[in-house]
Amino acid sequence: MKELLVELGHRSYPIYIGAGLLNQSELLSKHIKAKQVVVVTNETIAPLYLSAVLKSLQAYNVETVILPDGEQYKTLEFVTHIFDKLLACKFSRNSTLIALGGGVIGDMGGFAAACYQRGIAFLQIPTTLLAQVDSSVGGKTGVNHPLGKNMIGAFYQPQCVIADADVLDTLDDRQLAAGLAEVIKYGLIRDLEFFEWLENNIDVLLARDKPALAYAIQKSCLNKAEIVAEDETETGIRATLNLGHTFGHAIETGSGYGTYLHGEAVAIGTCQAADLSRRLGLLDSDYAVERIIALFIKVGLPVTPPESLDTDRFLELMAVDKKNVDGQIRLILLKEIGLATLPVDVALDSLKMTLKTYGRR
Ligand code: NAD
Ligand code: GLY
Repeated sequence: MKELLVELGHRSYPIYIGAGLLNQSELLSKHIKAKQVVVVTNETIAPLYLSAVLKSLQAYNVETVILPDGEQYKTLEFVTHIFDKLLACKFSRNSTLIALGGGVIGDMGGFAAACYQRGIAFLQIPTTLLAQVDSSVGGKTGVNHPLGKNMIGAFYQPQCVIADADVLDTLDDRQLAAGLAEVIKYGLIRDLEFFEWLENNIDVLLARDKPALAYAIQKSCLNKAEIVAEDETETGIRATLNLGHTFGHAIETGSGYGTYLHGEAVAIGTCQAADLSRRLGLLDSDYAVERIIALFIKVGLPVTPPESLDTDRFLELMAVDKKNVDGQIRLILLKEIGLATLPVDVALDSLKMTLKTYGRR
């Protein structure tokens, strides 16, 4: 087992990465302070992994909340189901919430933990690649609003992250690919060597080679932990983790939550961001853009925006973004592969050109 640390002073916490971790009850109990524990998961993950987690929690008074599966349920309404259970079972302030699932469950569970009695402890057990490399680390929690993705939420750090590589065995190929989009992001924003490693090892990763996946998870978590330690609440460098996300969130919201997987929308958005970076003269060659697109294509991810979203609709949707200031759209762009900008005030003409021409027939 590999252990990394997210260094946040007295709120620092470990990320455990390894095989068979769900069965290690001592790993869980180390981070649970009192008897009351609620496990939040969904209908897909419960039959696969809930019993293993419950077995590791035999010493506790455990309740479960099983939510429906899907991005469209990442809403305040369904977070309320968690509160209903906690209140009905008289859970007190020293209870612990365990989020067992992908990014949707992690974000919702974390948000419920942040709000219930103004904050109870929570543990992340991420079960998708995307959640293991990104969403479970760093304390961003929340839900979607019909008008904007992740618009309601809180920064709230977990007590630990337990990333059991074995659970990825049941993840389908489409979900694995979506997770790789966020893995590639780390290479693009700050780690050229890792990007090159990904270019050279993508086939091995797609074949689910365990050591290669473990390396990719560790490298991603290491990059994310460093960024979060430097800028927990996104006043600076953490915004670089949003490369491609403003376009991507517009695609997710505009197409209806759940139509595109988050990682798929991020892949398209990153290609749009690369196109814009080249247009603005930040990226100094067409080859850099082609290299980025080629890697996403090799993973099997979409790289062109949906026909249904025209430029005006994109702009409307992109206007609802947490990085924007006073109505100005601000984007993370690339200076080179391995180096992202901080949020840039983008000239509307250039943005419109990318929206009109990139990936359009
Ligand atoms: P997800 O949570 O919807 O999971 C994807 C699918 O895989 C679901 O159907 C789920 O039930 C299923 N699944 C999960 N684990 C499985 C397993 N081991 N075996 C088989 N099936 C399994 O999607 P996701 O890609 O994990 O997360 C996307 C969400 O994460 C989005 O809502 C996005 O906004 C959010 N996100 C948050 C952050 C953050 O920093 N908080 C970062 C990135 C993404
Ligand atoms: N996934 C973006 C962030 O954690 O900041």
